[in-house]
Amino acid sequence: MDNLIDGRAIAAEIHGETRERVARLAARGVKPHIVFVRVGEDPASRVYVGMKERTSGELGLLSTTRVLPEDTTQAALLDLVRTLNADPGVHGILVQAPLPRQIDAPTIFAAVDPAKDVDGFHPVNVGKLLLGDEGGFVPCTPAGVHELLIRSGTRIAGANVVILGRGNIVGKPMASILMQKGRHADATVTVCHSRTAAIEEHCRRADILIAAMGVAHFVRASMVKPGAVVVDVGVNRVPDATAKSGSRLVGDVDFAAVQPLAGRITPNPGGVGPMTIAMLMRNTVRAAEQNCR
Ligand code: GUN
Repeated sequence: MDNLIDGRAIAAEIHGETRERVARLAARGVKPHIVFVRVGEDPASRVYVGMKERTSGELGLLSTTRVLPEDTTQAALLDLVRTLNADPGVHGILVQAPLPRQIDAPTIFAAVDPAKDVDGFHPVNVGKLLLGDEGGFVPCTPAGVHELLIRSGTRIAGANVVILGRGNIVGKPMASILMQKGRHADATVTVCHSRTAAIEEHCRRADILIAAMGVAHFVRASMVKPGAVVVDVGVNRVPDATAKSGSRLVGDVDFAAVQPLAGRITPNPGGVGPMTIAMLMRNTVRAAEQNCR
């Protein structure tokens, strides 16, 4: 049954558009440059930053990764961010989360120059998104989900959207994007979370169900309206005795049970993940374009 929303194919389409913009910048002597800052050796962060570096190279962006030790102080990290802010050769800055305990992540995100904040985490960019000001940077994962909905032809205007999860990286910005007045938005948005009463009933009313709460296989068939569009943002590591590593990654959606009744559904992997990187690359190219205007 082919009701899949192919994130890899849609990301490849966006990469094509990004490559064209990179070529136009190259003709003006500009190569977009993104700096990744990683603190410590969190295994998942190493993998994610590695993937972002590789994609940067493939699209013709310059990337640099700065790795600081696990015991880095907040002051030292702030120093690095300020140095990168002041460097005219740097267009985008991404400080990979999670950060070690001694570091206050919101303080770090707020220290990044909003014009280089390709993650869209700076309060100015968060505020612009909420206000419907399209001049800011939108966080990459919800922006990627939005593109998946648009490019899969999903009707958003007037739809009942249920978002599971209220985090700053996905749930809250996702709600902001879809509730805006205007094209590819105008949805009626419900945000559910760990304290929501009768969460299954909310889910069953959803025309578009976006799962981003970080609970493995939380969304079961009984929670999905037949024909609904289901987007799985979750990345959860669960024990698996049959896997060589002893564990495997699963989404927030019980895909095998939900796929037969969904109208469209994202696979996981191969759905949202590739889109997050595609949006990061696009944001970085935009930062470079705006910087050299
Ligand atoms: N950790 C998990 N997702 C993200 C993201 O989108 N940006 C950053 N900087 N760290 C993350």
